[in-house]
Amino acid sequence: MPFPPPPHAAANVDHASSGGNAGHGGSALAPGEATVSAGAVATPPAAGTGAAPLLSVRNLRIEFPHRRGTLVAIDGVSFDVARGEVLGVVGESGAGKSLTGAAIIGLLEPPGRIAAGQVLLHGEPIHTLPPEKMRRIRGRRIAMIFQDPLTSLNPLFTVGQQITETILTHRDISEKAARKRAIELLAEVGIPAPDQRVDHYPHQFSGGMRQRVVIALALCAEPELIIADEPTTALDVSVQAQIITLLKKLCREHHTAVMLVTHDMGVIAETADRVAVMYAGRLAEIGPVRAVVQNPQHPYTRGLMGSIPVLGADVHRLVQIEGAMPRLNAIPPGCAFNPRCPHVFARCHSERPDLLPAQDTLAACWLYAHPADQDRPGTKQSPNVESAPRAAGPVTASAFQGLTSRGSAVNRDAKTDTDGENDLAQGGSR
Ligand SMILES: Nc1ncnc2c1ncn2[C@@H]1O[C@H](COP(=O)(O)OP(=O)(O)O)[C@@H](O)[C@H]1O
Ligand code: SF4
Ligand SMILES: [Mg+2]
Repeated sequence: MPFPPPPHAAANVDHASSGGNAGHGGSALAPGEATVSAGAVATPPAAGTGAAPLLSVRNLRIEFPHRRGTLVAIDGVSFDVARGEVLGVVGESGAGKSLTGAAIIGLLEPPGRIAAGQVLLHGEPIHTLPPEKMRRIRGRRIAMIFQDPLTSLNPLFTVGQQITETILTHRDISEKAARKRAIELLAEVGIPAPDQRVDHYPHQFSGGMRQRVVIALALCAEPELIIADEPTTALDVSVQAQIITLLKKLCREHHTAVMLVTHDMGVIAETADRVAVMYAGRLAEIGPVRAVVQNPQHPYTRGLMGSIPVLGADVHRLVQIEGAMPRLNAIPPGCAFNPRCPHVFARCHSERPDLLPAQDTLAACWLYAHPADQDRPGTKQSPNVESAPRAAGPVTASAFQGLTSRGSAVNRDAKTDTDGENDLAQGGSR
């Protein structure tokens, strides 16, 4: 029962093919693609065994070439997502959250391109796959939920038709069985009277109900990973919590990992296992949710957390981070946060910090450089250590392993990650 794409469709009902990484606002997806299906569920990588994590992003660099040069929107971002894990991704608007998600699922909008680095699924590079193969990954193993549910739904077809079509794209079952499964899925995501609602059109649903339908679409193919990009931002506050709770519950039940992009720290605190904080296209800090939220180490994360009002807290003034995130063509040398940082010192202006162990997280901040490194010739500077926690020593692979919530994931040496040369030499796209 094929049907044509909606004029604006993106997620799972767009039949148009594309010559490469097409935009998620556009026409790159085949039926069932983005909210997709049945991938083989891999064995979870065990800590210390060297098993590949579900997803690894390594030294990702995204560029936008233009007439007067090249804008670097994502610069050396590395992180892992373990099976079944919820990784929250936070940061100011323009920090690079959506681009990172789009690059992972192969939906970067030209002229944006992956200029360096790797995206690995179970250790296998997917960023270099030809469009047809990438479409199958999107169709079976990675799904995406966008901010606006209407982006993913075709207004011309009933939700039942769309879910059924998605199921049939990926599973070899009868149309009758697919429709039965569609009704089950609608029930699972909390749509009342699903056997009737299955024949309704998207406009007959409220915003929250539409997003539930999109979640059903995303789950109907049992993907290993869902990238949810601000999935509740377009919804009423009262509905947001319901949707996040639902997403979390379903992903636990289906053992689906989620990369949850949001600016809502409440959502992160409630939902995520680990948190990655992005700033100016780079990773500022990454670590277990409790550590990042309650004991952030990077000055930017501290500012971010300090700017969140807490009910009942005896705080006279919320923390305000002075200044604004730099435009892509004005990112300063050294640490990108240096113009706004209360702890800035000379080294911050000249050298870009790697992710360094800082209490229970990794923070890209020179305050956490080992004293020996701090004092090495040519870098002897005076950090403003007034409120800076003690340096934690050199980065090791085990330091990264300690940051994964499910005993797996990030297992490379940070120095190797951010140097990037090896990955490039080994065939990272550029
Ligand atoms: N098509 C594009 N051309 C040029 N710059 C872009 C394009 N798309 C995104 N960017 C830039 O890349 C940066 C990261 O964007 P994005 O990932 O959408 O941020 P976020 O999702 O964190 O708000 C922003 O500075 C944005 O302006
Ligand atoms: S590296 Fe320097 S400027 Fe950057 S966050 Fe740390 S102290 Fe601040
Ligand atoms: Mg965004």
